[in-house]
Amino acid sequence: MNIFVPLAYFHEGIVNGYDKDTAPIFMPNTIGGYMPGPRDYPGNKTYPSSQKTIIAALNHGYVVISAGLRGRTLTAEGENIGKAPAFLVDMKAAIRYIRHNQDLIPGDTNKIITNGTSAGGATSAAIGTSGDDAYFEPFLKNLGAATESDKIFAASVYCPIHNLENADAAYEWEFSGINTWQRKIFVKDGAPGQPPVFEDATGTFTPEEMEMSAELKQEFITYLNSLHLTVDQTELTLDNDGQGSFLNYVKYFIKQSAQKALDEGKAVSKDSGVKVENEVVTDLDWSKYLHFITRMKSVPAFDDLEMKNPEPNLFGDGTIDSKHFTTFSQEHSKVTSQLADEKTVKAVNPLTYIGKAKTAQYWRIRHGASDRDTSFAIPVILATTLKNAGYQVDFAMPWNTPHSGDYDLRDLFSWIDKICA
Ligand code: DHB
Repeated sequence: MNIFVPLAYFHEGIVNGYDKDTAPIFMPNTIGGYMPGPRDYPGNKTYPSSQKTIIAALNHGYVVISAGLRGRTLTAEGENIGKAPAFLVDMKAAIRYIRHNQDLIPGDTNKIITNGTSAGGATSAAIGTSGDDAYFEPFLKNLGAATESDKIFAASVYCPIHNLENADAAYEWEFSGINTWQRKIFVKDGAPGQPPVFEDATGTFTPEEMEMSAELKQEFITYLNSLHLTVDQTELTLDNDGQGSFLNYVKYFIKQSAQKALDEGKAVSKDSGVKVENEVVTDLDWSKYLHFITRMKSVPAFDDLEMKNPEPNLFGDGTIDSKHFTTFSQEHSKVTSQLADEKTVKAVNPLTYIGKAKTAQYWRIRHGASDRDTSFAIPVILATTLKNAGYQVDFAMPWNTPHSGDYDLRDLFSWIDKICA
């Protein structure tokens, strides 16, 4: 774990209104693809790193703490040691260590704010929802973690790849009917400190894949309706075709995003399906929008039938590298496979803990409006579940923004300053 403190705090100085006792503790992680997320530092030139975020946060007066977290490919003495839920256990251990040493470490332990992107966004989200949940107790004890609270104040979350057990179904709810995909395919892990190697690939669905897509789409409709999410006391639902108030709510965020772009003088492509009259967004042609952003993943999008994706690999165990984590993919599998323990799958889903654990009060969730790595439904469900449970949620889908994070640090830090005031 690396701890960085604005220099002024060593001289009783003040930065942006904070001092060594009141500064928020900002905890970005470097998890991507559920790979190991090593501890980070300003000037870090290796992959993965969010060193620019660290520098900006320090300049803004935050204490920054970067903990190394285990990931799915990590081994020791011939055993896998980074499978789920290791990344969350490590992050909790880091938070407990900070609390345990709060008299020695500058910053306010009542103002711990996590931050991450994609799988790292999922990490931030799960840490945010699961404060002090009993599930983690044996893992933390086994690790020798301090007996302290691991609840946090707020979570900054970019495009979280989470709710994995429902993500395949959500993807088909969104993209079913678009039978070609185009993406960069993972070729191999990078050399140490280097990004993974990818190449361009496209594909067209077989009749069998089209059938799976339709089946998964129906699964999502059942799932969504079981959540009983509401907005302004109106329940969000979907009919058998996948249409309804939930879809309208998702479209609302995209229309709002296009409007904001227009208001800021940015271009909104005519091909996007966004209808504009006199600089006002009046409608969104959903199908046109999806054809515009294109489908990225095949079917099933996450729990793929050959277990080549990051997600089945996350749910391996000490000796088995990958497992399916949905009964759908276990039943349709093209390889010899086992089904992961349901408890472990649920344990890494941030939704599991809302209404149950000590969930952070403040949330800032961003998911790019052209992100195709997971369905728009996934962040909308997270944001809405949190709102419905009474938490403060700032959610938006920035226009023309792909799968990425930390692109609006000025706004993120304004939000942090506001909730810490
Ligand atoms: C990430 C992206 C994905 O598309 C995915 O399935 C898992 C993780 C990531 O960037 O962390």
